[in-house]
Amino acid sequence: MIKEELVNSNWRVRKGHIIRVKRMTSAEKLFEIELDNGRVMDYEPGQFVQVSLFGVGEAPISLCSSPTKRGSFELCVRAAGRVTNAMHALEAGDEIGIRGPFGKGFPVKVLAGNDLIFVAGGLGIAPLRSLINYVIDNRREFGKVDILLGCKNPREMLFADDLEFWQKRVDVNFNCTVDKGDPDWAGNIGLITSIIPGVTINPERTFAVVVGPPVMYKFVISELLKKKIAERNIILSLERHMKCGMGKCGHCQIDSLDNYYCCQDGPVFSYDRIKNVAKM
Ligand SMILES: Cc1cc2nc3c(=O)[nH]c(=O)nc-3n(C[C@H](O)[C@H](O)[C@H](O)COP(=O)(O)OP(=O)(O)OC[C@H]3O[C@@H](n4cnc5c(N)ncnc54)[C@H](O)[C@@H]3O)c2cc1C
Ligand code: FES
Repeated sequence: MIKEELVNSNWRVRKGHIIRVKRMTSAEKLFEIELDNGRVMDYEPGQFVQVSLFGVGEAPISLCSSPTKRGSFELCVRAAGRVTNAMHALEAGDEIGIRGPFGKGFPVKVLAGNDLIFVAGGLGIAPLRSLINYVIDNRREFGKVDILLGCKNPREMLFADDLEFWQKRVDVNFNCTVDKGDPDWAGNIGLITSIIPGVTINPERTFAVVVGPPVMYKFVISELLKKKIAERNIILSLERHMKCGMGKCGHCQIDSLDNYYCCQDGPVFSYDRIKNVAKM
């Protein structure tokens, strides 16, 4: 058994290098990373890696690039504490350790053939960007696509280039809102829930994929249920404190459920599966 675990290459730290760093906001930077020795990271949208900084520690970070982009992958990192602040000090050319990918991603095969509504709040756009760009790269496999994005203020909006690209596409409906505007902001002002009623939804064939801060889930789900989207068609990604990322340490246990770990059984779940057992 131990032998088997040791040969699982996803569990070992693999060395990589940062090939590009881009400041996105005052708190977030985008890192493009390549594994060493020409290795390729195979992953699904919604999965995460453990970023390992030698002598500092590890932190789980969602893959925010689409797996259709081969060669390198991207992580959007908010400076929140020890590991993430240390990561913000890194530059192109610096070495980095990566474990993973871990977790269950978004059920891409189940989503195929259906209409999709993406609802992202704040940093939740990071894992959703992976799925959105995957869907765009395989556009004919999916029905209508609506992207709804909310953040606190215009300065905190992430992935400006992607937002512009999505906005320009005729096969994607994009709408965003901020809690508080500024003199240059000409768009919607209000919570993300305020732009859900305006979306035309065929509940028979729609999946909603929602990622954002915990406070957002209850209100967004309530709006989606008003649109008659089935609970099993509402897909969420949960955050828990994690250590190992691979179902061994128990740190990310989902509330009262034994042997139900966010890092392994999630982080992506359908709402019907977790509504009675997990705090969002
Ligand atoms: C599956 C998953 C995907 C994630 N994806 C991203 C991502 O794409 N980009 C990103 O910037 N962050 C992401 N996070 C959050 C990120 O892992 C934490 O911010 C990071 O672990 C903090 O580590 P640190 O050493 O920098 O901070 P620490 O010094 O450990 O802690 C700083 C503060 O953050 C709190 N904290 C640490 N981990 C979490 C957590 N999981 N949930 C809530 N609070 C936490 C601590 O309690 C403390 O108050 C993700 C978390 C999970 C579980
Ligand atoms: S982080 Fe160790 S079991 Fe999930």
